[in-house]
Amino acid sequence: MNNLYMPELALVEDIKEETSNIRTLTISLKSRKPFSVLPGQFVELTIFGYGEFPVSVSAVLGPTRDRLQTTIQRIGKVTKETANLSVGSTIGIRGPFGNGFPLAEMKGKNICIVTGGVGLAAVRYLINYIIENRDHYGKLQLLHGARTPGDLIYKDFLFNNEEAQEQGIEILLTVDQPDAGWEGHVGVVTELFKRTTLDPVNTMAVVCGPSIMMKFATQCLANMGFGDDQMLVSMERRMQCGMGMCGHCMVGQKRVCLDGPIFTYGSIKDALERAF
Ligand SMILES: Cc1cc2nc3c(=O)[nH]c(=O)nc-3n(C[C@H](O)[C@H](O)[C@H](O)COP(=O)(O)OP(=O)(O)OC[C@H]3O[C@@H](n4cnc5c(N)ncnc54)[C@H](O)[C@@H]3O)c2cc1C
Ligand code: FES
Repeated sequence: MNNLYMPELALVEDIKEETSNIRTLTISLKSRKPFSVLPGQFVELTIFGYGEFPVSVSAVLGPTRDRLQTTIQRIGKVTKETANLSVGSTIGIRGPFGNGFPLAEMKGKNICIVTGGVGLAAVRYLINYIIENRDHYGKLQLLHGARTPGDLIYKDFLFNNEEAQEQGIEILLTVDQPDAGWEGHVGVVTELFKRTTLDPVNTMAVVCGPSIMMKFATQCLANMGFGDDQMLVSMERRMQCGMGMCGHCMVGQKRVCLDGPIFTYGSIKDALERAF
């Protein structure tokens, strides 16, 4: 992806139905060029005839890194058209955009990731990266919440206790409304803090999900002793250009597409509190 203004043609290689309205697309460039994307960055996907939308990169796959995954919730005009894509469909892609996670700063630290709903898609690549570089990071915790068990994405990963144990990942899940088969925790994601030990010393927290969840999660973490710069938030705003030119994605003085989407809580706190 060389020209950031022009979508490049890409092929849908695989589709995984995560939930009734969320799909993970595996895509490759028709040119077969590799993807050079960092965890936390996003791309703009074009559904020809309908428009484009920003979406986090949730994985880059293959020995030549020529396949990329995005997990898309159908919520409106353009994303709902992803339901009509099938394997072999052509879409457009431009990017990558945004800053990505500060991997160098996170190195050597324990990482606690707190996510809600499809917010998990924005950190999935980070989790893969930490697993691939396991020796460079301390304890890895994932606290994740969804509305119902049927709304959980990445079930293969979340419920694969063997992989989690092998990789030393602690995964805690909760749902707002259980179904008959759910034996796990019921309640909001912040209640999971009571079910684990979390030491702010040498730990960075990553929070990604609906605004209200980010508000309460950052408050809880602050109460536990996390400093403003020990909390990273991944922001989502309506976007157009994706590259800092149109001003559509401003939060206070920051352009989410260029200065973010990953911010330290400290750097965006005031603007965030106004937005909540
Ligand atoms: C950096 C970034 C990463 C993202 N990553 C993902 C991801 O991994 N998976 C995913 O499913 N979605 C992600 N999104 C959200 C996705 O871009 C929106 O759902 C999409 O733009 C909606 O387009 P639409 O035309 O279908 O909806 P529209 O018809 O334009 O809008 C439908 C409804 O959604 C609201 N909405 C639209 N866009 C946004 C937005 N960006 N933030 C908040 N509310 C919005 C509108 O206000 C409206 O209520 C991301 C957004 C950003 C900015
Ligand atoms: S989307 Fe245009 S400035 Fe961010």
